[in-house]
Amino acid sequence: MVAALGHANNTAANLKARITDRSAVIGVVGLGYVGLPLAMEFVHAGFRVVGYDVSQRVVDLLMAGQSHIQDVPADAVHAAVASGKFLATTLEDQLHACDAISIAVPTPLSKTRDPDMAYVLSAADAIARQAHPGLCVVLESTTYPGTTRELLQPRLEAKGLTVGQDIFVAFSPERVDPGNPLYHTRNTPKVVGGITTACVEVATALYESCIDTVVPVSSPEAAELVKLLENTFRAVNIGLVNEIAIVCDKLGVNVWEVIDAAATKPFGFMKFTPGPGIGGHCIPLDPHYLAWKMRTLNYKTRFIDLASEINSHMPEYVVQKVADALNDVRKAVRGSRVLVLGVAYKRDIDDVRESPALDVIRLLQEKGAIVEFHDPHIAEFRERGQVFTGVPLSEEVLSGADVAVIITDHRTIDYQRVLDTAKLVIDTRNVTAGMRPTKARVRGLVDHSDGRYERRRVSR
Ligand SMILES: NC(=O)c1ccc[n+]([C@@H]2O[C@H](COP(=O)([O-])OP(=O)(O)OC[C@H]3O[C@@H](n4cnc5c(N)ncnc54)[C@H](O)[C@@H]3O)[C@@H](O)[C@H]2O)c1
Repeated sequence: MVAALGHANNTAANLKARITDRSAVIGVVGLGYVGLPLAMEFVHAGFRVVGYDVSQRVVDLLMAGQSHIQDVPADAVHAAVASGKFLATTLEDQLHACDAISIAVPTPLSKTRDPDMAYVLSAADAIARQAHPGLCVVLESTTYPGTTRELLQPRLEAKGLTVGQDIFVAFSPERVDPGNPLYHTRNTPKVVGGITTACVEVATALYESCIDTVVPVSSPEAAELVKLLENTFRAVNIGLVNEIAIVCDKLGVNVWEVIDAAATKPFGFMKFTPGPGIGGHCIPLDPHYLAWKMRTLNYKTRFIDLASEINSHMPEYVVQKVADALNDVRKAVRGSRVLVLGVAYKRDIDDVRESPALDVIRLLQEKGAIVEFHDPHIAEFRERGQVFTGVPLSEEVLSGADVAVIITDHRTIDYQRVLDTAKLVIDTRNVTAGMRPTKARVRGLVDHSDGRYERRRVSR
């Protein structure tokens, strides 16, 4: 027992020393929105980094010094490759040279909204095949509590390696916020939970090499739950504020005015804004990982279910607003030209995954509308086996549309020009507030035009 402990201490100490003197080789499995920025941070910290991805396209692009991730400039990738510090590869055996490996592969949901762990399992199997004593493996993909201990640990131990002695296993949630100009991988605090004390110590040392603040917690389950709490908190609060928007619409009260005034309270209130729905790889999906886990324990996570119900209804609510606005000018949705402005799931990024714009477009098409889109960050995207190609924001396109629907409030769109040129505008983000509605009739997510509240009063 004492000998085993001494062995574990030595192995951990050796690995930490190799991290400190930067002789450790770091692996990153999955080079997407999360993995590529992380790999670049390790390179900047002075490590040699092996980026392993199953996509030949991604690997070829990176090795040619280009970047497929908006927040990572091509220059940074080019410099990392040219310095010999960064190798992107599809060859799994390159992972054998690594002393520490972070896993950042997708964790989507199946059609029945259950966790799809196929990517994590395949990454874990690949690492297990290449594992050796003195390796640290950290899962970063968002997942349900128990994944690190129940799926990752046994695969590594099947190689005869004991976790906490020969190898070190931890979970550290990724918090990257694509498009955020202030917070990025380095200055966003990183939570780490290890299977054993040695595991959390090694993983903490690893991330302290390239992240400003590392926050150790007592277990991988706590770290897994931290991420789910953060994103459930956002999903629930967005659900609440979307419901308040519907409430304000029924009352004829300006929801934006209410939120801005509430946000003047210096304590006990945090501002969330309503919109056409939620998107991205995180907020619409992550809470369902927790809901699924709790279903296995016969517990129903009611806040998650309710927020999901309200948020996923928002695209239908927007389409109803479009239909009402067209109706007011004696037009039907069928045959009307609808210009969707912004298809990314949030402002200033190029990601359409789970974007509410996709549902809005589908619902409008189902009603017979002729839908076009413009997005300064997205030239085309694929959805339901169809390729959608964007149109330029020309005078012709703007004035030719029966209605323009602002779904994503990208900062580079000239909204005054949209108001000056379009016949009718539905602004789901309140981005045209305070602008001159010179030509277009503008309708928001909420109808609070004069006198509506009066019509809703109940006399007692
Ligand atoms: N995108 C975000 O804003 C964000 C933020 C925080 C956390 N996360 C979480 O991080 C994880 C990764 O998300 P992402 O947005 O970076 O995904 P992504 O789709 O951008 O990138 C994942 C990459 O992994 C590769 N890959 C898939 N299977 C692999 C395998 N078996 N081996 C090696 N590579 C493989 C894919 O080819 C792809 O390049 C998810 O769990 C997600 O929930 C994402």
